[in-house]
Amino acid sequence: MQRRRSVTGVLPGQMEKAGSKNQNSRLCCLAFLSAFLWFFLLYFHFVFLRGDNSNANTSTTQFVDHHTTTLTPVIHESTSIHVNVPEVKPPPRKIGLPNSNPNPVEIKSYPPPPKSFPFSKALTSGDNKSDPCGGRYIYVHDLPSRFNEDMLKECKSLSLWTNMCKFTTNAGLGPPLENVEGVFSDTGWYATNQFAVDVIFSNRMKQYECLTNDSSVAAAIFVPFYAGFDIARYLWGYNISRRDAASLDLVDWLMKRPEWSIMNGQDHFLVAGRITWDFRRLSEEESDWGSKLLFLPAAKNMSMLVVESSPWNANDFGIPYPTYFHPAKDADVFNWQKRMRGLERKWLFSFAGAPRPGNVKSIRGQLIEQCRSSPVGKLLECDFGESKCHSPSSIMQMFQSSQFCLQPQGDSYTRRSAFDSMLAGCIPVFFHPGSAYTQYTWHLPKNYTKYSVFIPEDDIRKKNMSIEQILRQIPPEQEKLMREEVINLIPSLVYADPRSKLETLKDAFDVAVQAVINKVTHLRKDIINDNIDKNFIEENSWKYALLDEGKHEVGPHEWDPFFSKPKDGSGDSSDSSAAAAKNSWKNEQRKWK
Ligand SMILES: *[C@@H]1O[C@H](CO)[C@@H](O)[C@H](O)[C@H]1NC(C)=O
Ligand SMILES: *[C@@H]1O[C@H](CO)[C@@H](O)[C@H](O)[C@H]1NC(C)=O
Ligand SMILES: *[C@@H]1O[C@H](CO)[C@@H](O)[C@H](O)[C@H]1NC(C)=O
Ligand SMILES: *[C@@H]1O[C@H](CO)[C@@H](O)[C@H](O)[C@H]1NC(C)=O
Ligand SMILES: *[C@@H]1O[C@H](CO)[C@@H](O)[C@H](O)[C@H]1NC(C)=O
Ligand SMILES: *[C@@H]1O[C@H](CO)[C@@H](O)[C@H](O)[C@H]1NC(C)=O
Repeated sequence: MQRRRSVTGVLPGQMEKAGSKNQNSRLCCLAFLSAFLWFFLLYFHFVFLRGDNSNANTSTTQFVDHHTTTLTPVIHESTSIHVNVPEVKPPPRKIGLPNSNPNPVEIKSYPPPPKSFPFSKALTSGDNKSDPCGGRYIYVHDLPSRFNEDMLKECKSLSLWTNMCKFTTNAGLGPPLENVEGVFSDTGWYATNQFAVDVIFSNRMKQYECLTNDSSVAAAIFVPFYAGFDIARYLWGYNISRRDAASLDLVDWLMKRPEWSIMNGQDHFLVAGRITWDFRRLSEEESDWGSKLLFLPAAKNMSMLVVESSPWNANDFGIPYPTYFHPAKDADVFNWQKRMRGLERKWLFSFAGAPRPGNVKSIRGQLIEQCRSSPVGKLLECDFGESKCHSPSSIMQMFQSSQFCLQPQGDSYTRRSAFDSMLAGCIPVFFHPGSAYTQYTWHLPKNYTKYSVFIPEDDIRKKNMSIEQILRQIPPEQEKLMREEVINLIPSLVYADPRSKLETLKDAFDVAVQAVINKVTHLRKDIINDNIDKNFIEENSWKYALLDEGKHEVGPHEWDPFFSKPKDGSGDSSDSSAAAAKNSWKNEQRKWK
């Protein structure tokens, strides 16, 4: 087809020329023409009858390429060729090359050449509309079992305070919860440990519909290292070399793999179901907390998904804590949502938690006081002996009977409780933007007023404002809209049962994986277009996370006072949130002993 068009495209000019000369030259021209036609017939024959089909495709591509570069084709012709070629054989590497012919149409039809980038094949696979997985493939590293499975075999050593063995059962969901009090549903409920996301996520990945063994088409590369389980073993009473050993071993292993060199690890991601401060030890002092995983040069290139990320760092991202609900099918979720919509909620607000008497800045004491003294407030206190505060059914029952659920900081910014309460259709009340708004930007709407109430800590701490009064000012119809928004968020906040797959709904895992893919894809495009933001200031990471799509500029922000770092500038591991992380063991001990 294309060939013949080329012939007619050349001939008219030659015929005109010939017509202006005498008979001899006409004969000459006829002879020349027939020779020309013969040549083309033979060439056609040779090209198309040689070899198998795939060879023929290649030849067509080469042929077209040859013509667009050596002839000066009519525009109509070149566009028709260009429309055809990508269907014949994408990615058309030859055509992507800038050639000697600076045909403007050609430049317009083809974006800058992706050829010299090792990820261009993966990037173009996203343009293959007939491949439902195009641009969504995940390659999973086949790590030695010491980085994951072996830790489960040693589950007794996973926590000093808890026998984690029962929590690693059922693909990481833990033992099933019986629906004795009718608070849960009959199936899909488990006594899930709040630090179990390492295992749940890895198992959930096995159900991902676009896994590939071909890393050259991967949109992102998953590293199934149980980073949270690893450090949990050594947080208490082990020297820093023990705490860092597996992390160093891992990056050493990864950097020797051919996949590393595709993007120096910038397409790699891993998951730790713990807070980021457990992996941000800045110094080599034994008394300092945690491992230095997230400060290793290799880990700075990767993305780590954690249940609490650092506002000032760019290599970690917040994902939801696990709740007790792990639906196996869409209907489980729909039924639950329907029930949460219909509940009668007798408490205006409630709080489940313990005071922090050792922390003078904590507002928990005041919140507890307000819950106690208000007739419409409900408190589930956690501190005294056998407390109902750690019984999943008591917690869920209270959240289900409350309109608003108070979610102040704990030892660190975030709490699992925020997700348990939203699962119950209770509107969360946050007191620090780091507790949710700057954390879970992949999973929660950027416009936080749609689903939550924000009361700055100082309004409580300094002004002793009344929660009851603030909440009563919210019009009932607005509260209804907020509750509906919270209930609609439920599917994307829960981790589905990793042993099955939701039919249409996207769970917290799906949302996280898609966000990682988007991040890597944007980065790849920025690399190709030489569009990397050179003014990026890592310390402002939380501001970038709040930006709308396509925006790059950050400036002063109303939340700056919440995220100002200590004067000595060493905020990463020695400021109050890291110190608080250090204290979190007390909480862990209380909770599961
Ligand atoms: C596009 O995707 C389809 C379906 O997976 C596949 O058969 C085809 O080979 C892909 N095309 C290219 C050029 O990779
Ligand atoms: C990848 O390879 C493994 C082992 O050869 C195989 O079991 C698995 O099914 C393959 N996965 C995909 C997505 O092709
Ligand atoms: C750290 O502790 C391990 C045992 O957990 C021990 O084998 C090792 O020698 C210690 N290293 C240092 C530098 O003290
Ligand atoms: C991290 O990525 C940057 C940019 O690609 C690269 O220069 C650096 O060598 C990478 N670091 C490691 C440890 O691979
Ligand atoms: C955020 O949501 C609220 C409530 O739905 C709405 O009134 C407001 O206009 C929204 N703000 C922005 C910036 O979209
Ligand atoms: C805070 O307000 C409550 C009433 O809402 C009051 O009972 C309490 O004494 C006040 N506390 C302080 C320290 O002013």
